[in-house]
Amino acid sequence: MNKWDLLSLLKGKTYVNGYISGEEISKKFNVTRAAVWKCVNELKKIGYKIESKTNRGYTLLPVFDILNEYEINSRLKNKNINYDVIYKSSTDSTNSDAKKFLGKNNTVIAAAEQTAGKGRYGRTFYSQNNGGIHFTLRINNTVQNSISIEDVTFFPLIAAVAVSRAVRDLCGIELRIKWPNDLLYKFDSDYKKLCGILTEASIEAETRSISYVIIGIGLNINNDAADFPDEIKDIATSLKIISGIKNERADILCEILYNFTQFMNMPRKELLDEYKKLLLLDIDISFVQNGKIFIGKAAGINENGNLIAELQSGEITVIQSGEINFI
Ligand code: BTN
Repeated sequence: MNKWDLLSLLKGKTYVNGYISGEEISKKFNVTRAAVWKCVNELKKIGYKIESKTNRGYTLLPVFDILNEYEINSRLKNKNINYDVIYKSSTDSTNSDAKKFLGKNNTVIAAAEQTAGKGRYGRTFYSQNNGGIHFTLRINNTVQNSISIEDVTFFPLIAAVAVSRAVRDLCGIELRIKWPNDLLYKFDSDYKKLCGILTEASIEAETRSISYVIIGIGLNINNDAADFPDEIKDIATSLKIISGIKNERADILCEILYNFTQFMNMPRKELLDEYKKLLLLDIDISFVQNGKIFIGKAAGINENGNLIAELQSGEITVIQSGEINFI
């Protein structure tokens, strides 16, 4: 018996009067009472509330928003989603972990906190343990996944649509996409960011085939405004700041994974249609190409998910990579 076996038993509440005695547990798993007691303490240590009453035994009390591999796995199982799960309360970066990870199956590595969260273009991504969720999907290029080089550009779009759909369905909050994949929420006049996505891929040099893709997602869920450091406090927000409501991080993570799986298997044209509905267009932007600054409007996307911009001169240009700023 380990702590998760005991948790599963206590969560089941199939025993009489809601309490189960230490003796019954020890018999059920064929372990000593001391081993039961040890597991009870381990569960308490990671945040579960277990009440023990003389002559009755143990019962699990409700607790909100505990994040660990059990909470993630049980939700994925309910939704029939096949990912191996690794959970760390703290790590440097789940993207770095995912690169080193050698498992064969599709895997999600999640952390409550990252000490060196990576953003796009070498920036750092704020990842303290204040209610956000930081996780990376590692999708290996197997016969089943069959990832081409062209597919790689779609993963960030899939992730952005998957997050925004999960947030809409679970929290009733409509997020919009700033190309290519920042997720923003519109307050009275300005947009604030609550999710960033960093996609990386490994390419076999000789065959020019993809070995794996990793998609890192950081989403601010239960953070308070005071949690954000000065550098980002005016531009960052969280689901809790928007709605005043706290959410279970495991629910949101698993809904994202569920959507991700759906959108990954969707024809590209349909995916792009979904993405377009969420994309912020007709907005004044500036961007840099070949060292030169351009000003124009975000006008649309092409069939590869590249941004089409209309410059002040009326000229149309396509932005394949990089980022844009709203002005
Ligand atoms: C950005 O907005 O610049 C992208 C941020 C991506 C952050 C996520 S959090 C999980 C994963 N691990 C990292 O180190 N980065 C990504």
